[in-house]
Amino acid sequence: MSFALNLANIEDTVQKPQEYGRFMQHCYLLFDVRRLSLFSEAIEKTKASGVAVDVGSGNGILSLMALKHGYEHVFMIEPSDKIAQYATHLLEKNGMAGRFTIIDQPLEYVNLSRLPKQLGLVVSETISSLIFGFGSWDAFPTLVSRVSSKESIIPTRGKLNFILVEDDSIPRTGLPPANGFDFLRSKSIEVDLLDYTFFSSGNMYAVNFEKALQNYIEESKPQIATMQGFDFTKSNPYPAKVASTVAIPSKAAYKGIIGWFSVELSHDGKTILSSVDPTLFAWKPFYIPLKRPIKGSEFSEISLELMLKRVDAPYTYAFQFADHISGKELTNILYW
Ligand SMILES: C[S@@+](CC[C@H](N)C(=O)[O-])C[C@H]1O[C@@H](n2cnc3c(N)ncnc32)[C@H](O)[C@@H]1O
Repeated sequence: MSFALNLANIEDTVQKPQEYGRFMQHCYLLFDVRRLSLFSEAIEKTKASGVAVDVGSGNGILSLMALKHGYEHVFMIEPSDKIAQYATHLLEKNGMAGRFTIIDQPLEYVNLSRLPKQLGLVVSETISSLIFGFGSWDAFPTLVSRVSSKESIIPTRGKLNFILVEDDSIPRTGLPPANGFDFLRSKSIEVDLLDYTFFSSGNMYAVNFEKALQNYIEESKPQIATMQGFDFTKSNPYPAKVASTVAIPSKAAYKGIIGWFSVELSHDGKTILSSVDPTLFAWKPFYIPLKRPIKGSEFSEISLELMLKRVDAPYTYAFQFADHISGKELTNILYW
C-alpha cells in the first residue's frame, strides 16, 4: 500500500498546532527503540478490553500497539492533519481498517461527548504537555476519569527534577566552541532568542549531554529539586503549586537551571521514561538561563516555582520560573 497526501483535506491549519506534522520528526520518534519498547511494555501490562484513546497519536504507532494488544477500537486525537493522514495509511496497512477513528483537534478543543463514556485505555505520548500543561491539563482529568481501571492510564504519573548550575558548560557539551550566536555577537548583533525558550527534546544538540550531566551530578552532588507533576491515580491529578525549595550556599552564583522529567508509564512504577536516560533518543534534559544570577549573598534558599502563563500560541500556556518566597521572577517568560 502506498501513501500520498490529500491536500484537499487539510483545512483550518492556522488554528491547530501543526508543527509535529513533519515526517522526519516522526522518524526520530520511531528511531527511539527505548521509547517504543517502554510504551509497548506499558501497553502490554494492561488488560485489553473496550475502547482506547490515544492522545497525540501522531504517526499512530501507539494506537497500533493498543489494537494489536486486543483493544477493540481506538480514538486517535491528533491536531496535525498531515501526520494524521499518514497514521490512517499506517493503520490500514497493518490490517486495522474500521478499528480506528481520528479526531483531528488538540485534546483541549475536543468535544468529549464524541468519545465513549467508558474507556478501556488512555495512552499519551504528549510528555511535555503533560508535564508543562500547555492546555491539555484542562482536558485530561475528565478524559482519564472515564477509564474503568486506573492501571490502564499511560503514563500514570510524572515529575520534574531540577538542579541549579553555575555555568552553562554542561548544556554546551559537544556543541562547537563557537556557534551562530557567538558569530553574530562578533558582528555586534545581539540575539537573545535563547533567553525566551529552552533546550528541550528536539533542540538539544549537545552530544553526550546526559552523560556529562550524570557525571556532574555524581561528582558535584548538587541538590536535586523535585517538583510534583501530574498523577492520574488522584481525582485531582495536578498539584495546586508546582514548586520545590532549594538551599543556596553562601558562595553560590547560579546562572541557569537544568531540568529533566521522570514519568512512570505503568501503574506498578517499574516502566520509567526519564529524559536523563542516555539510551533515550527522542527526549533530552533541558537548560534554562536565569534572568539574573541567583547569589548566596542575596538568598539563603529559594522556592523554585513553575508558573503557567496564558500567553503562548498555538499552545495555551507559556511558563516562567519564580521564587515563591520572595515573589521574584527568575527567568523570562519561556515559549515553545
Ligand atoms: C511526541 S509526539 C508522539 C506521536 C506518537 N504518539 C508516538 O508515540 O510516536 C506528540 C504528538 O502529540 C500531538 N499533540 C501536541 N499537542 C497536542 C494536544 N494538545 N492534543 C492532542 N495532540 C497533541 C503532536 O501533534 C504530536 O503528533
